Amino acid sequence: MKKLTSTKVFLCCLSMGAMLLLCPIVSAQKTKLTLDFTQPGANVSPMLYGLMTEEINHSYDGGLYGELIRNRIFKDNKTKPEGWSLVQQDTASRASIKLIAADPDNVPFDERRHSINTALTTCLRLTVAKGGSRVGVANEGYWGIPVKPSTTYKASFYMKGTGSMQFPRRPGMPARPQNATPAPVIENNTAGPINVTIESNDGKTVYATGTVTLEKSTFWKKYEVTLTTAANVEPTADARFVISTDRTGLYYFNLVSLFPPTYNNRPNGNRIDLMQMMVDMKPKFLRFPGGNFLEGPDFENAFPWKTTLGPIDNRPGHKGSWGYRPTDGMGLYEFLMWCEEIGAEPILGVYAGYSLNGDHVDPGPLLKPYVEDALDEIEYVIGDKSTYWGAKRVADGHPEPFKLTYVEIGNEDWFDRTNSYDGRFKQFREAIEKKYSQLTCISTITDTQNPDLKVTGKKPDVMDEHYYRSSWEMFANASQYDKYDRNSSKIFVGEWATREGAPTTNLHAALGDAAWMTGMERNSDHVIMSCYAPLFVNVNTATATAPKAWQWDSDLIGYNALSAFGSPSYYVQKAFSEYLGNKIVPTTAINIPTQNPPLSKRDSINGTKPAPVPVIFYSATQDDKTGTIYLKVVNASGKIQPVEINLKGLAKVDKKATMVVIKGSKPEDTNTITEPQKIVPATFAIKGIGTTFSQKLAPYSVNILQLKIQK
Ligand code: AHR
Repeated sequence: MKKLTSTKVFLCCLSMGAMLLLCPIVSAQKTKLTLDFTQPGANVSPMLYGLMTEEINHSYDGGLYGELIRNRIFKDNKTKPEGWSLVQQDTASRASIKLIAADPDNVPFDERRHSINTALTTCLRLTVAKGGSRVGVANEGYWGIPVKPSTTYKASFYMKGTGSMQFPRRPGMPARPQNATPAPVIENNTAGPINVTIESNDGKTVYATGTVTLEKSTFWKKYEVTLTTAANVEPTADARFVISTDRTGLYYFNLVSLFPPTYNNRPNGNRIDLMQMMVDMKPKFLRFPGGNFLEGPDFENAFPWKTTLGPIDNRPGHKGSWGYRPTDGMGLYEFLMWCEEIGAEPILGVYAGYSLNGDHVDPGPLLKPYVEDALDEIEYVIGDKSTYWGAKRVADGHPEPFKLTYVEIGNEDWFDRTNSYDGRFKQFREAIEKKYSQLTCISTITDTQNPDLKVTGKKPDVMDEHYYRSSWEMFANASQYDKYDRNSSKIFVGEWATREGAPTTNLHAALGDAAWMTGMERNSDHVIMSCYAPLFVNVNTATATAPKAWQWDSDLIGYNALSAFGSPSYYVQKAFSEYLGNKIVPTTAINIPTQNPPLSKRDSINGTKPAPVPVIFYSATQDDKTGTIYLKVVNASGKIQPVEINLKGLAKVDKKATMVVIKGSKPEDTNTITEPQKIVPATFAIKGIGTTFSQKLAPYSVNILQLKIQK
């Protein structure tokens, strides 16, 4: 990366760097910030702040996606019905449950007939050898089924029982071999009422109940029922979903689904509280479907967008990248609707022939099918109804093409040390730009982060950089973009986070985030987009039957089945996005105090000391229509920091201003499910503003001053 030599921003940064070298101890002189209105500032990128998402930490299944039933098509585990258990009211009945898989080589002949289609090939069988009292199957949900007052849940499931006929042969079914295991003797007709309940885990309290009538048939049928809780129900996640009977016989279940109300009431839609939290962030885009989730653990399990379309009955799910099996209920269409519902533009990541196990597809003829697949995917998103995939989107319910400007080719392809990405990127880009000249392709290899791996030929328009750092590293690198060559490709910081605190980040991480964001914002003529990752985490720890819900520490928004909370980092993201002008105000600083980071392990081994880092970070933008100035100043130290602020070139400002402050008393302070509002923004009115004024910054604080220019 060439260094910039001409901008004021860089000079300021150089002087700050020199100052750091000369004054490693906290400065005793007054810190001064000068916002220079005598020179025009560059435009703030209109797409600067967005969101990034993938299926990690139960972001969708057990997270944003409304489905409440865990393992709804019984494919999570080949050997046992995970998430499911047998319910027996008393010992008078005799019953058992069994997974009936479709693998024709491994199941007895009589169990092969239970596939519904190519997606629903494994089902759950409840054998009631002796009825007479309540027997059923229970689902534990994703760490509990959330029960809330006056709430209507939509339950549906495929079911069949033992009818009066003995295993009728469906047309086309093979004849029963002579040596096959004898078919179970059907003694009882299971037709009749089947109870559906949401109840406490001990079965003693029923929160909502409904009934369906099982038909006298041995064929699959989909049953639907709504369940409504009473107004006086205490919210709880200590609940399960049960389908029960008291009649002897065999019962089969598949695609068991339970949905609470969803955002905008969209069928197969999203959890309301999490959607609202994203809407509040005013994100300009959503980068999906990954992350590692896009690449998949291997070629076969890269994000299979084609099998994520249409009715959920046709979605087999796939092996995800984070140790559990996604249902793909959150499919391509649902991602796009999610974007639309939060007012964000999709940034579509297309699979580029490299997976997490390190396999890659060589550019050339072998890669062609993958390129075709990406073109199909783009056609689904923006093709009109006369195109094959565009027509499918229309049929799925969205006549208008979605907005799409950026397509990202792969994810973190720098892990492919063969540098096949050079050829892969070129092949994808040429094909995409040829068919869709309006689209811009993003490279996942950057000259800054991967100087040894090059994308040769035509310079990428945009490159995606990823940074996962400690707060101290963020403080040390907050001015990194001041130095970027403006002639290089534009930067998309497609994944970044300050990683302190788990499962969600703490105040110190939020300070690191804010420091880093001031750097992106000051340079948002060049850093055109950025998004934090990971966005979501289900915060449940392991139980007797379910594993710990998350795989990645330090996430933005935490939740369990019942409620959600924002980390301090969430509030920083929200505030940075909310209080943003459209012009950068060139700003310089003098006498920025510094502090010493703690010694790292390496430092103590090598006897070295880390370089001191600044304590104060800043960026200023202006809304040239309203005349509002947004000055963001971070105090990363535990001391009050007085700052003098000069508004150079402004004749007059309003004497009164507003200041939004996010702060805490110690760096480890954080928000949790039980204390969700410990660190939240507070808004203050401040007086005595002039073209030069002083402001004290609270310890460990992120401060956003809103000043108004008087015309
Ligand atoms: O955000 C978590 C992971 O970090 C992403 O899946 C991957 O792209 C990155 O390495």
